[in-house]
Amino acid sequence: MNPFYPSLIAADLLNLKKEVQLLEPHVPGFHIDVMDFHFVPNQTMGPAMVNALAQATEKPFLVHLMVEYPEKYLDCLTLRTGDIVSIHPEAPSQYSFKKLFDLIAQKGWTPSVALNPETEMSIIKTMDVTPTHVLLMSVNPGFSGQEFMPVVYQKIAALSCTIAIDGGVNVDNAKKLLEAGADQLVVGSALFSSGNPLKALQLLQDSLSA
Ligand code: DX5
Ligand code: ZN
Repeated sequence: MNPFYPSLIAADLLNLKKEVQLLEPHVPGFHIDVMDFHFVPNQTMGPAMVNALAQATEKPFLVHLMVEYPEKYLDCLTLRTGDIVSIHPEAPSQYSFKKLFDLIAQKGWTPSVALNPETEMSIIKTMDVTPTHVLLMSVNPGFSGQEFMPVVYQKIAALSCTIAIDGGVNVDNAKKLLEAGADQLVVGSALFSSGNPLKALQLLQDSLSA
């Protein structure tokens, strides 16, 4: 199974639909970063663009909310049943983390815990949720193109649910991450920076059997 989820933050933003349609036959789904300039020092696409993209493909989304008060965004998103929505326990909210998880599940989406590199795994036990999906950040959230932080390896070992790795994934660490127990690998710059995402995807796939 192909583990690579393109992170559209790094795609050609003026040709997003084309990028999605080009990669769609070759990937299990797409990763969509939503940033608000408050939780992280950057801003990306908002709910309207995410909803439009959800109309452009049937492939599942890993929607990554790097925002304060994620509850506001949940009400504006129109996703498909089974899409995964990752929220950060480090982000402020008017609701408990469990309530946010329940709100996501009520919409038919899969709730997921996103953890910053410096956040301890023990935080999960304090949140009164049993996640089936965790998104482990291997860069500080906010920007594509940062250097991979190996701190995630020890976190992978501590989890038994589906694990996605987000940040700095490339041909040098993809195989090692899967061998360590990761299931899904989010790839931004390693896929799009060359300008030939299909070729870059092939190189990533080749790295798994090297
Ligand atoms: C970082 C984002 C990542 C990022 C990945 O805040 O959450 O999804 O786009 O990009 P690369 O693969 O370039 O680190
Ligand atoms: Zn992300």
